[in-house]
Amino acid sequence: MNRLNKTDRPYDIVLFGATGFVGTLTAEYLAAHAPDGLRWAIAGRSGRKLEELRERLPGGSKVGVLKADVSDPGSLRELAEDARVVATTVGPYVTYGEELVAACADTGADYLDLTGEPEFVDLTYVRHDARARETGARLVHACGFDSVPHDLGAYFTVRQLPEGVPIRVDGFVTANATFSGGTFASALNQFARGRQLLAAARERGRHEPRLVGRRASAPTGAPRFAPEVGAWALPLPTIDAQIVRRSAKALERYGPDFRYREYAAVRHLPVAVGGVAAVGALIAAAQLPPARRWLSDRLQPGEGPGPEKRAKSWFKVRFVGEGGGRRVYTEVAGGDPGYDETAKIFAEAALSLAFDDLPPTAGQVTTAVAMGDALTERLRRAGITFRVAGSR
Ligand SMILES: NC(=O)c1ccc[n+]([C@@H]2O[C@H](COP(=O)([O-])OP(=O)(O)OC[C@H]3O[C@@H](n4cnc5c(N)ncnc54)[C@H](OP(=O)(O)O)[C@@H]3O)[C@@H](O)[C@H]2O)c1
Repeated sequence: MNRLNKTDRPYDIVLFGATGFVGTLTAEYLAAHAPDGLRWAIAGRSGRKLEELRERLPGGSKVGVLKADVSDPGSLRELAEDARVVATTVGPYVTYGEELVAACADTGADYLDLTGEPEFVDLTYVRHDARARETGARLVHACGFDSVPHDLGAYFTVRQLPEGVPIRVDGFVTANATFSGGTFASALNQFARGRQLLAAARERGRHEPRLVGRRASAPTGAPRFAPEVGAWALPLPTIDAQIVRRSAKALERYGPDFRYREYAAVRHLPVAVGGVAAVGALIAAAQLPPARRWLSDRLQPGEGPGPEKRAKSWFKVRFVGEGGGRRVYTEVAGGDPGYDETAKIFAEAALSLAFDDLPPTAGQVTTAVAMGDALTERLRRAGITFRVAGSR
């Protein structure tokens, strides 16, 4: 690994997409929690919006402003050259994200994003992982509610179990929250790209080295009543399980044979059936361009739940882990998953990459691999619960 000299870059962290819904919350979090001497900048395509945001931020006069547009690769290159860590909220990532990953991989800047799009993550692996390994850049996707509570929660659970034994972990997600225009646009875009998603996964499979002597899997579980959590368990088709499986592939601590399954936990059967029907209808509608346009007009980019609604939102991920004759129940929990906690997790992950003493990694890495212990500790200090709820 040839980590390029990054100490002489003007900024520790550059936040791209700072003027969007999550971007603004992340900028506010950084402004309120930045360690003394943090050199950081907000970046985006609109100079006017960036200046307005900077004026609102506490200590804003010390925050840099960088103009960059995804349609101008030169501006992204300059942005990456100026930063030790680039954090981007500019999605849908499969549409807008690749050039910035390329610029970070090439210039050795660490990169993190909020994608939940498996197609994008597979595509950047195939095209940019090798270059990032050469320059020492860490490319860390899914640094928000997708998939940090799941990835670090599974990692936390594994560490409660004996070493060197086969381990099974099931994650059960419950949440009460709504979403923003940006998230809705990314989800619709993803639902409409089933074929491309499979093609990207196959292409990744052709490039990725096979795991030798160990196994790590993340099969889709069947819907069932799960007595261990007293709820109906519905398989969740998010990126989380793939991320957890990649952490297990990379880290010996997950044991010789690791399996992770993720579910939504729903207490009442009619709610479970209604939820499945609603997601099915959305996926079906996303296949038809006019229906997709109509749906995306319902919620505009930049819009999202207000502070009062977010204050009432919460999430809890319960994990049941088994290995070496032990069973452990753990929990990761916090407030509004999609926005307040996502902004907190994203900002803390950027600070962790910039300042923590982390294991030497490069290329596409998960949060558990790049900064598992350090980020867990940071999130605990920032009010997200990681706890053992029981064991036998
Ligand atoms: N992982 C998670 O748990 C999680 C949670 C929440 C959101 N997300 C994801 O985060 C992303 C952002 O969500 P959001 O609600 O914040 O969306 P948003 O409000 O629409 O913000 C998008 C940002 O992208 C910028 N942008 C758009 N086109 C651009 C271009 N050509 N060049 C430069 N910047 C451009 C926008 O700039 P302007 O302000 O100038 O329009 C804005 O700053 C979405 O992909 C969403 O799915 C993930």
